[in-house]
Amino acid sequence: MKRIAVFCSGEGTNLQAILDAVRTKRLKASLAVVVSDRPAAFALTRARGAGVETLVLRPREYPSRLDYEQTLLRKLKSRRIDIIVLAGFMRILSPAFVRAYRHRILNIHPALLPSFRGRSAVRDTLRHGVKVTGVTVHLVDEGVDTGPIVLQETVPVKRGDTEKTLHERIHRVEHRLYPKAIGLLLQEKLRIVGRKVEIVR
Ligand code: GRF
Repeated sequence: MKRIAVFCSGEGTNLQAILDAVRTKRLKASLAVVVSDRPAAFALTRARGAGVETLVLRPREYPSRLDYEQTLLRKLKSRRIDIIVLAGFMRILSPAFVRAYRHRILNIHPALLPSFRGRSAVRDTLRHGVKVTGVTVHLVDEGVDTGPIVLQETVPVKRGDTEKTLHERIHRVEHRLYPKAIGLLLQEKLRIVGRKVEIVR
């Protein structure tokens, strides 16, 4: 079974969806470790509750980003991690780190990329007044939210939506889409040509 590491900084509702998919065998993978840069992340509580190993690496305890990422890479290597799943991980990985796991890092973004990149996507979406937004799962490349797109799904913006109500609607789609995309990558069903991803049936 392929081994996955999930990186989180916050609530971890996507982590929960992945844990549930693994438990019910909808996702055939071994969730080997949950990594966080924040000791207080609720995602860690979820991981521990499910009996999954947790690793907390606080950036400020390392002299540089290079040291931080090299430690992280060593720990992933010793755990024989096949793919990395970013689920609300609030740090940007360096190009060197991304190259070490080329086409083996997934990210989920709460908007229809390439619109509304960056960390305040839901707020920016609302401010812009779009009527339709959505969810994007993509492979991570050296840029920020720029990698080849694996799956996308639309989510309507409703009258009177707040950041909270819209993000809740987005989350419901994320929790379904992410395990599906992870499964496709693990089963080697993604053919990556340039920046396009073809799903092999
Ligand atoms: C998600 O909306 C995801 O798209 C974004 O960060 C949020 C993480 O939420 N990258 P959670 O921690 O999984 O609840």
